[in-house]
Amino acid sequence: MIRHQAIAAAGLTAAALGVCGCQGAQSALSPAGRESAQIAELFYWMLGVAIVVWLLMLGLLIYAVWLRPATHQRKQTVVWIIGGGVVFPTIVLTVLLLFGLRLLPQLLAPAEPGSLQIAVSGAQWWWRVRYLEPGSLQTDAIANNADQPFEPIEAANEIRLPVGEPVQFLLDTEDVIHAFWIPSLGGKVDMIPGRRTQLTLTPERTGIYRGACAEYCGTAHAEMNFNVVVMPREEFERWLQHQSEPAPPPSSQLAKEGQQVFLEHGCGACHTVRGTVARGVIGPDLTHVGSRLTIGAGILNSSPEAFYRWIHSTEHIKPGVLMPEFHMLSHKELQALAAWLEELT
Ligand code: CUA
Repeated sequence: MIRHQAIAAAGLTAAALGVCGCQGAQSALSPAGRESAQIAELFYWMLGVAIVVWLLMLGLLIYAVWLRPATHQRKQTVVWIIGGGVVFPTIVLTVLLLFGLRLLPQLLAPAEPGSLQIAVSGAQWWWRVRYLEPGSLQTDAIANNADQPFEPIEAANEIRLPVGEPVQFLLDTEDVIHAFWIPSLGGKVDMIPGRRTQLTLTPERTGIYRGACAEYCGTAHAEMNFNVVVMPREEFERWLQHQSEPAPPPSSQLAKEGQQVFLEHGCGACHTVRGTVARGVIGPDLTHVGSRLTIGAGILNSSPEAFYRWIHSTEHIKPGVLMPEFHMLSHKELQALAAWLEELT
């Protein structure tokens, strides 16, 4: 009876482990891109070989302990120890190593010329995102700019990508080492001071995925996240075109007051809102902050209440954050400010 229960428990545990943790917007085992699919395949091969070796060892253990417990000859044991303890692992690990390394040139190859290029900079504790090259974009506005240097379109803490084409990420950092990782789309790459690293990802499924910083970088490391929205080509082009435009003027009296609060209290020293005099470059560009899914680098879902809370209790929501809390603002001023920011879509 106890034996049956133990087998049932082991089966349930294995099933639970198999089901949980593999799905979701931040899982390397639920690939949504070409590179992550290759990595997931490598993982399953390694898992398969590990299971075979484990079963083999279990079989040998049962054989040695229960089936043939008699003493083995010295010569025979030496063969088993050298063969099973040195030769066998060396062969298996070398084959697995070569099998894994074979993927590297593909995963680290730069994207073809003309691909969309996005520069992402890590900063304590958020992400600066710049869309660099128009690549094959066909929108008129970009075509008209063809003979001028392309002004990067800046956003933060959210990356939008067209589905089905390789995108080249150029990665660097503004302070310490961070690591750029979108598990659903591919492997992680370090962002190293004084260097520019690169990573090419090819999303193959539309949807919203989650990225994270994968290198400890200080107090709010665990709260340095971002969303990745993979969308159809035409939708992406429309979105990027809109992102290149300045913020629209405030549409209501409340939003107008909010903009005044923003400009009068010095928010523009750190933040840029194109279309206003705010030109700060220390913090995230807020020109279209209202269109982003989250604020605070993946901490709060975007809403007027979230903007209010964030500005009033920044340090409370994200300990270590470099933006100060604005306690001097009245309830009315915070409401107005939140209304204006929410409007910046
Ligand atoms: Cu940035 Cu951890």
